[in-house]
Amino acid sequence: MTAISGAAAGAGDEGVRADARGDAERERAVDAALGKLDLDAKTRLLAGQDMWTLPALPQIGLGSLVMSDGPIGVRGKRWTAGDPSTALPSPTALAASWDPELARRAGRLLAQEAHRKGVHVLLAPTVNLHRSPLGGRHFEAYGEDPYLTGAIGTGYVRGVQDGGVGVTVKHFVGNDAETERFTVDNRIAPRPLRELYLAPFEAIVAGARPWGVMAAYNAVNGTTMTEHDPLVNGVLRGEWGFDGVVVSDWLAARDTVGALLGGLDIAMPGPVTVYGEALAAAVRAGAVEEAAVDTAARRVLLLAARAGLLEGAPPAVAVADRPAPTDGDALAREIARRGFVLVRNEVRGNAPVLPLAPTPLGGGIALIGAAARDPRVLGGGSAQVFPDHVVSPLDGLRAALHAGVALTHSVGADPTEELPVAGPGFALTAVARDERGAELGSEELPNGQLQWLGELPEGVAYDALHTVETRGWFTPRVSGAHRFGTRGTGGFTLSVGGHVLFDGVEGSEHEDPFEAFLGTPAEHGTVELTAGERVEVSLVHAVPKGVELPILAVGFALLHGEPARDPEELLAEAVETARAAHTAVVVVATTERVESEGFDRRDLRLPGRQDELVVRVAAVNPRTVVVVNSGSPVELPWRDDVAAVLLGWFPGQEAGAALADVLLGVEEPGGRLPTTWPVRLADAPVSRVTPQDGVLAYDEGVFIGYRAWERQAVAPAYPFGHGLGYTDWEYESLVVAESSEPDVLVTATVRVRNAGARAGREVVQLYLAPEESSEEAPFDGARPVRWLAGFASVAAGVGEAAEVTVRVPRRAAEIWDEDAAAWRLVPGSYAVVAGRSIASPRLTAPLSVPAP
Ligand code: BGC
Repeated sequence: MTAISGAAAGAGDEGVRADARGDAERERAVDAALGKLDLDAKTRLLAGQDMWTLPALPQIGLGSLVMSDGPIGVRGKRWTAGDPSTALPSPTALAASWDPELARRAGRLLAQEAHRKGVHVLLAPTVNLHRSPLGGRHFEAYGEDPYLTGAIGTGYVRGVQDGGVGVTVKHFVGNDAETERFTVDNRIAPRPLRELYLAPFEAIVAGARPWGVMAAYNAVNGTTMTEHDPLVNGVLRGEWGFDGVVVSDWLAARDTVGALLGGLDIAMPGPVTVYGEALAAAVRAGAVEEAAVDTAARRVLLLAARAGLLEGAPPAVAVADRPAPTDGDALAREIARRGFVLVRNEVRGNAPVLPLAPTPLGGGIALIGAAARDPRVLGGGSAQVFPDHVVSPLDGLRAALHAGVALTHSVGADPTEELPVAGPGFALTAVARDERGAELGSEELPNGQLQWLGELPEGVAYDALHTVETRGWFTPRVSGAHRFGTRGTGGFTLSVGGHVLFDGVEGSEHEDPFEAFLGTPAEHGTVELTAGERVEVSLVHAVPKGVELPILAVGFALLHGEPARDPEELLAEAVETARAAHTAVVVVATTERVESEGFDRRDLRLPGRQDELVVRVAAVNPRTVVVVNSGSPVELPWRDDVAAVLLGWFPGQEAGAALADVLLGVEEPGGRLPTTWPVRLADAPVSRVTPQDGVLAYDEGVFIGYRAWERQAVAPAYPFGHGLGYTDWEYESLVVAESSEPDVLVTATVRVRNAGARAGREVVQLYLAPEESSEEAPFDGARPVRWLAGFASVAAGVGEAAEVTVRVPRRAAEIWDEDAAAWRLVPGSYAVVAGRSIASPRLTAPLSVPAP
């Protein structure tokens, strides 16, 4: 029998021990340093000096603290391809592993990346919840369940901090959608606030002792989160004992006194902030006490000390104690495999269609889809990093397939409804010039998007900057009329192969300064090019001046589209390759215009004619496998008509290698859904993300995700927790026992047996379901039908059994009593259910919770 430790993180397992000696020494050093600072130095320390850093204060031996996004890689101070980063799969993929230990390993790798790039604090993880499937940034969060989110987040934070790098758990709290994100006032009643939205933060504070939390842009119940004294000073610090810093989301701090009294320690980014000189002036004017500045400065110094930036203070993790180095490529590939969720795998002939036979297949494989060649490996916005390579599904399969297996690729349908940023085939450099045309500096670009935020390339002063030219070479992959365009605001001159395609001014207005970079794509013409023959490209941008910007920012993009082919012809070609093949693998995807930070989704449709593509391919090939390359749910109207459906998320830089592993059965797909996948948007019980008059009411209370789906008649496409592997599991026994640990309700020991034909891993899920009678709580106690109360992974070989003991936290049977403003254990009869998903119970044990 294989027994694998299975207590979920955050439930009292090997935790983060407070290093009492180190804490005391650091505090002494911090107090001594603080005593040497005058008011101006202290207030300077609370304000970004630029986009990502705090000032050094040599007089106390303090180095400059560097922060960087987060969460799937460490970008570093510059948004450039010249300094690439390992790109792990999206947080939804990590959460789909249901493995806090894997999240911890991801965190350790990111700490290693942070050290490599001189970063001290990672702006991650994102632990907001999937309240509505329309949330545009859901790829960056862990799902719809607060317990799973807290457990994965705890593992992640422990991992980053194991390496001596800080985090900012974000966005505290209620940034669950992007529409009007700077100003929206989310009205959330105390119960859902505590039981859902605050819960992951609470678990992480208790289980990982994070060094930082990021205050969100939005308001909650009338107060903006950078000034929210009750939630920041009251709950986060007071009730939970959080001892780290609170940093604003970028540009979220609005009021000097309000922010300081609201518990905000650091206002980012700089140099123009509500702290610094403005704060010193407020103290001098008597608007706020210097003692409040000291409190915030002490916390910032403590953060710096933990990160090893304050002379005389021991860092939280000595260099010698950092974890052993991790191979980023291998880990990215492992997380991708462990996060892939196989939601359907039908029998064709006498076996399920996946895994594909490793030996040569008659007719080979038809790989179809634009994303099979150019996958979307990460989501848009601040989470973007620049990996030095991406393994596409096409590359991955080609490398993994036996030499005799035929592999064809066809696009089938183009998912981009707008001209995309110039990518494959382009080698570009940005050159900055002054008014006279003299070169000030240059920088290699990852693609056609230029974004200089807060900092310009070396040698470039903003005042002197007049134009930026994106120039270089383009080597087409196909012959034909290639389309070119621009995105951004200001003057542009675009030429390709010496032909000027555009010379004029483009304009657009956006409230969100980060969104301004995206602008509206403008197509400016086509140029006939030949595959393999490179051509010179140049886009000169006249930097608009005189625009009031809170941060220094230059951003625009060179856009490019391959020759537009007749959509019918593309579809027909793909159908023919599928007809001729033994198996068709169709990769469908969303685009950066669908899932990104900064805006929400309008619908859950796959863009372009991808649905039609799948339908037509499946009609000619009964062995059609669809791989869904999206960060969060999309509608799959054909899902019951294809042989297999594999949800791949944004799989990171090793996308194709991991996909080949799983399709060919080198490994099984390990994921289980961290979020419910609806049939169609209209079925989703909660969907509204658009505020009315600035207010978004969370009227559904505690009923989001499966908590809401289970109360309605219409079922989702795939329920929370669902996911198939390549073997079968029998659930043999479930034993519920009392526990002497104060925070543990009971322990549940589950024994499962691998009843299939190959070794595998199972995620044992435990749900707690109150008997109807116990729903009559003496206060507004309406409760979901059941909820996740624990989980653990087990691995077992063929025929082997595995046993796991899971601690069910006491909190699982508590609700937030709004009248008493306290947690209240709800006594009564419950069922503890062990199963494969919320909709697939296997074993049930009764549990009687006595009144306390
Ligand atoms: C995002 C944060 C991010 C910050 C810095 C903001 O727009 O909401 O998550 O850490 O930018 O890039």
